[in-house]
Amino acid sequence: MKFSKLGLSIGLALGVSMAAQAADVEVLHYWTSGGEAKSVAELKTMMEAKGHTWKDFAVAGGGGESAMTVLKSRVVSGNPPAAAQIKGPSIQEWGDEGVLADLNPVATAEEWDKLLPTVVSDVMKYDGKYVAVPVNVHRVNWMWANPEVFEKAGATVPKTWDEFFVAADKIKAAGMTAVAHGGQPWQDATTFESVVLGVAGADFYRDAFVKLNPEALNSKTMVDALNTFRKIKSYTDEGAPGRDWNLATAMVIKGEAGMQFMGDWAKGEFTAAGKVPGKDYICAAAPGTADDFTFNIDSFVMFDLDNKDLQKGQNDLASTVLSPEFQEIFNLNKGSIPARLNLPMDKFDDCAKLSSADFVRTADSNTLVPSMAHGMSTFSAQQGAIYDTVTEFYNNDDVTAEAAAEKMAKAVAAATE
Ligand code: GAL
Repeated sequence: MKFSKLGLSIGLALGVSMAAQAADVEVLHYWTSGGEAKSVAELKTMMEAKGHTWKDFAVAGGGGESAMTVLKSRVVSGNPPAAAQIKGPSIQEWGDEGVLADLNPVATAEEWDKLLPTVVSDVMKYDGKYVAVPVNVHRVNWMWANPEVFEKAGATVPKTWDEFFVAADKIKAAGMTAVAHGGQPWQDATTFESVVLGVAGADFYRDAFVKLNPEALNSKTMVDALNTFRKIKSYTDEGAPGRDWNLATAMVIKGEAGMQFMGDWAKGEFTAAGKVPGKDYICAAAPGTADDFTFNIDSFVMFDLDNKDLQKGQNDLASTVLSPEFQEIFNLNKGSIPARLNLPMDKFDDCAKLSSADFVRTADSNTLVPSMAHGMSTFSAQQGAIYDTVTEFYNNDDVTAEAAAEKMAKAVAAATE
């Protein structure tokens, strides 16, 4: 039996999903933190208003690794959900499996090509046809800071990595945790890609994480970035290993830590806690990355199901997700910005307004790059190879940056064969 890129061996056609009840629209996602749950609840409400039953298929685990494992086993057993949160190049991998529904009829009727920037619509298509609908655009290269902690320590919010270490030293010397981190591979990778971007710039980032150029992966520049990244560890607390990202955000919210490097889903946590940007917390580009933008676009794919009621539910779901009403209310809660073009931003906070302006600005200056850590720049196997080397390096001080860079280049090459 032949295994595909996703490692699936689908022996059976999906056929009729016997387990699904007629109008139950089952949606797999991994939005389980406070801010995320509020966001997804809006989609449920809108689907129910259209007469559908929302069957929640939430699999906890930031970054979605666990959700993907569960999803694969459901699809292999011939019982996929109606929709699943799948994004980036992985959409192509699922397209290759031949299990996705064609959303082109809805997309054509609603003229999605005109509603979406091409950087978004390109990701949503397989073989020229829409198979996914975008929910939002997240910016990953953010730093979330607690101004009270900075004030107490006499530190200023850093704009470069050199300034970061000065500020972190002051916060540490004042007896506080400088960086709230969750030691999980995807969170390590999230911080690491911001370091690479801040230390080496968008062109290098693209060479390494999009083109997967072995000379960039195994370079002096990568070695410098790795060393800078590992230095951050001494500013984290003992509880960091394994900590969930939203608990790290909570440390910044409560003033237990000075900053967190995380995409703007972290803002969803601040919002859910009733915090106001510019007053209770600061959103700033990760050091050295103010003129760059790492994007992460959440989207839903629909599975090809032989059931008219479910197909109607899927079409309604696709249409709802791209509606101006949903794009606004969801993203207000989620911390991201709408994927749909030309929506008013007046209800959004200053961080979202900055993100929206920078999305356009960085597209023009060619410093808009796909997030490696969030599956936007590579297939899952290459991303896994980078994750493994980065996390091993971060956790094991015996591994030199030179050895890690070499290993990264080799592991990525092996995953590409
Ligand atoms: C990202 C995802 C976000 C958020 C985050 C934490 O990969 O795009 O929507 O859920 O993980 O789970």
